[in-house]
Amino acid sequence: MSYAEVYAAAANDPEGFWAVQAEAIDWVRPASKALWDENAPLYEWFKDAKVNTCWNAVDRHVEAGNGDRTALIYDSPVTDTISKTSYLELRDQTAALAGALQAKGVVAGDRVIIYMPMIPQAIVAMLACARIGAVHSVVFGGFAASELAVRIDDATPKAIIAGSCGIEPGRIVEYKPLLDDAINIASHKPEFCVIYQREQSVASLITGRDFEWNDVQSGVTPAECVPVSGDHPAYILYTSGTTGQPKGVVRPTAGHLVALNWTMKNIYNVDPGDVFWAASDVGWVVGHSYICYAPLIHGNTTIVFEGKPVGTPDAGTFWRVISEHKVKSFFTAPTAFRAVKRVDPAGALIKDYDLSSLEVVYLAGERADPDTIEWMQDKLGVPIIDHWWQTETGYTIAGNPMGLEALPVKIGSPTVPMPGYDVQILDEGGHKMAPGQLGAIAIKLPLPPGTLPTLWNAEERFLKSYLTTFPGYYETGDAGMIDEDGYLYIMARTDDVINVAGHRLSTGAMEEVLAGHPDVAECAVIGVSDPLKGQLPLGFVCLNSGSEKSESDVQTECIARVRDKIGPVAAFKLVCVIDRLPKTRSGKILRATMVSIADGKDYKMPATIDDPAILDEISDALRGMGYPAQKTD
Ligand code: COA
Ligand code: AMP
Repeated sequence: MSYAEVYAAAANDPEGFWAVQAEAIDWVRPASKALWDENAPLYEWFKDAKVNTCWNAVDRHVEAGNGDRTALIYDSPVTDTISKTSYLELRDQTAALAGALQAKGVVAGDRVIIYMPMIPQAIVAMLACARIGAVHSVVFGGFAASELAVRIDDATPKAIIAGSCGIEPGRIVEYKPLLDDAINIASHKPEFCVIYQREQSVASLITGRDFEWNDVQSGVTPAECVPVSGDHPAYILYTSGTTGQPKGVVRPTAGHLVALNWTMKNIYNVDPGDVFWAASDVGWVVGHSYICYAPLIHGNTTIVFEGKPVGTPDAGTFWRVISEHKVKSFFTAPTAFRAVKRVDPAGALIKDYDLSSLEVVYLAGERADPDTIEWMQDKLGVPIIDHWWQTETGYTIAGNPMGLEALPVKIGSPTVPMPGYDVQILDEGGHKMAPGQLGAIAIKLPLPPGTLPTLWNAEERFLKSYLTTFPGYYETGDAGMIDEDGYLYIMARTDDVINVAGHRLSTGAMEEVLAGHPDVAECAVIGVSDPLKGQLPLGFVCLNSGSEKSESDVQTECIARVRDKIGPVAAFKLVCVIDRLPKTRSGKILRATMVSIADGKDYKMPATIDDPAILDEISDALRGMGYPAQKTD
């Protein structure tokens, strides 16, 4: 069937379409119907089914006689390790850890936080939770202790599973002291922690609270898969919103299984047994969906890569992994390729490897800039496919369904909406806009299966953040347009979220941290364009009158504060001390105008600006910091 036919089938009969896709999943009891719309605008899919995610991701492949197939390849240039885990081994490891959690009292519905680097044990921990219906919440290793503490207080986990350390190029990141700090800061205390000790740094354990990974599993009965209902949360994943309080995106079990399984063939064009590689981190949604769940549910081989695109050991690492493990579909963020291109602009290292297995490269997580796409097309000679999605949806909203029909690529567009997504461009009043016009991107409800039904313990916030601005629609927070051919273009965020090296961050959260500095009277954080990371946060701070701190001391302290409170992942290194912030007469800070000045873009003097002269001061201050670095369009 063509893309158009499949899209129309899902639009005309969503329930029938997804009920057919659901046949690819093993149900303990199938749902009595596909869509629950009684509580619209809250929708749920396959709510009364009984099912287990781990069974579908692991056990069923063993039962089908594919236990010997490689489930995971761990490739870690930072530890010089390559190892393989078969589906049978993955089942046994998962059942053993799940049994240990059960023996310590973890039952279906309990939350478990996972704070681990890119090692196979992170996948085992996620699947072990899924096996017994525990709800995991994975926290990215680049976050600071206080961010971990916020998540502990929100998710109130019974247990935390952590690695002793992560490995960043040139340094070991000790996770255990961060974990101990986080538990100290948090009001909620987990009953116990399981620590996977890595030889690069063995952590000290707190007797009675912390248990070593192997010890806790010794002598326990392996756990069977526990069926849960279709609407049971498979996991909670926190993502940045406009404030310092992250949003706990809830992933519903049944829809997640159905939708992710559908994407593997239709979007990524892989068949069971093919090697699929998403170079991301299990702490992000890409890692949840495409390092862990989707490839395993579909019976593929997935790669857990512990390294960076450059420097581990060189800019040929991606090519080595692809050739060594015969990767068919490769997925990463554009920033990773920008890093490679910067070091090896001629792509000389590509020639050292046989990349004949590689059929398609997929990009997501941030805007894919045309330069990078063209460079990749030229150097790799395979289709480079941009696709757009969000933590909230868990998989592609708009993409090019390569397994269904390879649509012509238009550089700058992630192509077209996927089946189930009725994407529209709306003006401020919620009216549909004509092709080519820029507006808010919204998706007509209901969203397809697998997308977020709510936010963890925050239904009001869910309604307010996503469903209120445009009644009957999900507000994506992105702005863009649709052209005459139905191709979508993602232009900018409409909120305070920025995208730094493919990582979603909240400028509001950084402002909260800066405002806590005793010498800072007021502040604003904006995202400025960066040729490597896409965007970088830049803070403007105004000091209290009478402050005797030097500018450079304030800058150093602000940078240290954000690193300490949010984490190194914020990449917050630019601080500009100014006398006043540009504001409207009603006191609203003109962040968008500051972004235009920093990026060297033309801007209109806001009619409501309080004092236009401030913009010249901002321009001078930014020039002193080297901005605009390059004129962008
Ligand atoms: N644990 C601890 N610290 C981490 C970390 C982790 N898991 N991941 C990143 N950090 C640290 C980095 O070491 C760096 O610290 P530094 O300030 O001391 O140098 C800081 O957080 C910023 O990291 P990052 O923005 O990733 O910059 P980088 O210079 O280390 O790497 C890229 C730049 C482009 C190579 C890297 O961001 C990358 O590979 N991105 C791929 C994109 C990706 O995975 N996106 C996920 C969504 S698809
Ligand atoms: P995250 O929730 O971390 O996946 O970030 C989602 C946000 O990243 C989206 O709302 C977009 O702003 C941005 N994004 C993701 N993919 C793309 C893409 N292909 N093109 C442009 N922006 C993207």
